[in-house]
Amino acid sequence: MSDAPKNPAVTYGSYLRVDELLSLQQPRSEGPEHDEMLFIVIHQVYELWFRQLLHELDRVMALLTADDSPRAQHTLKRILTILKVLVAQLDILETMTPLEFLSFRARLDAASGFQSDQFRQVEFVLGTKRPEVMARFPDGSRARLALERRFTDPTLWDAFLHYLAREGYSMPSSHLSRDATAAVVPARAVQDVLIDVYRRDPKNAELCERLVDLDEGVQEWRYRHVKMVERTVGMKPGTGGSSGTTYLRNTVGSNLFPDLWEIRSRL
Ligand code: HEM
Repeated sequence: MSDAPKNPAVTYGSYLRVDELLSLQQPRSEGPEHDEMLFIVIHQVYELWFRQLLHELDRVMALLTADDSPRAQHTLKRILTILKVLVAQLDILETMTPLEFLSFRARLDAASGFQSDQFRQVEFVLGTKRPEVMARFPDGSRARLALERRFTDPTLWDAFLHYLAREGYSMPSSHLSRDATAAVVPARAVQDVLIDVYRRDPKNAELCERLVDLDEGVQEWRYRHVKMVERTVGMKPGTGGSSGTTYLRNTVGSNLFPDLWEIRSRL
């Protein structure tokens, strides 16, 4: 009879699957090149944070739907803190010089953050829904199924407009029943409601400000990523097949929640 206990005690290593985790960093370069490990680790860490962001974004929407604004705000604060970590992580990657990156870049083939389905899922939840990104993932794959679901699901903005309507604001019904797969078109009627919120409803005005923080945080990541790309590969095309820096520059500066920006000049 074996002496091994039937239910071995949970340990740090078994709970966190440390052995499996440490087997997942597999450089492709000969040697391997020293900096490829950093490149792999940082991207894997991003994917884990994207996973957590999606988990928290789903939570915010559920809390808004349950009219629990204090806990929705609390969760938004956590999301913003994660975003700050995501931006700060780029500093580590910027310690890699262009030549260090070039030492293994060719081994990436067509791999690029461009193909991160979780990043696209975050974009979908936040309202940037480009259907063509789904076609990059095989039919029936985890990524494709998740993207298809999030494509048709309401966005965070939709959850917020419905929450405001239940708070007693006269949100136009055309906005409450809008097509959730379409981009948000800024609208005067929605802005009138938001102005009302800012002028006489501090609790919900705070919620609006957290959404603006989120919008700014995503743009900050985009800006820092494109500057890092520019200093690492200049104007070379990306491994993912885009024009690289030029493509990325065009993604910086568009607002996720345009109505919340437009009201600033009217307040
Ligand atoms: C040396 C480091 C990096 C370089 C040179 C680089 C380069 C690029 C380039 C050139 C693109 C444009 C698409 C293409 O490949 O053609 C891109 C897109 C992207 N990269 Fe990076 N990247 C780096 C690090 C990262 C990291 C650490 C992440 C974190 C996940 C990341 C996430 C993304 C995402 C999400 C996109 C798509 C952006 C969009 O389409 O709006 N990148 N990257």
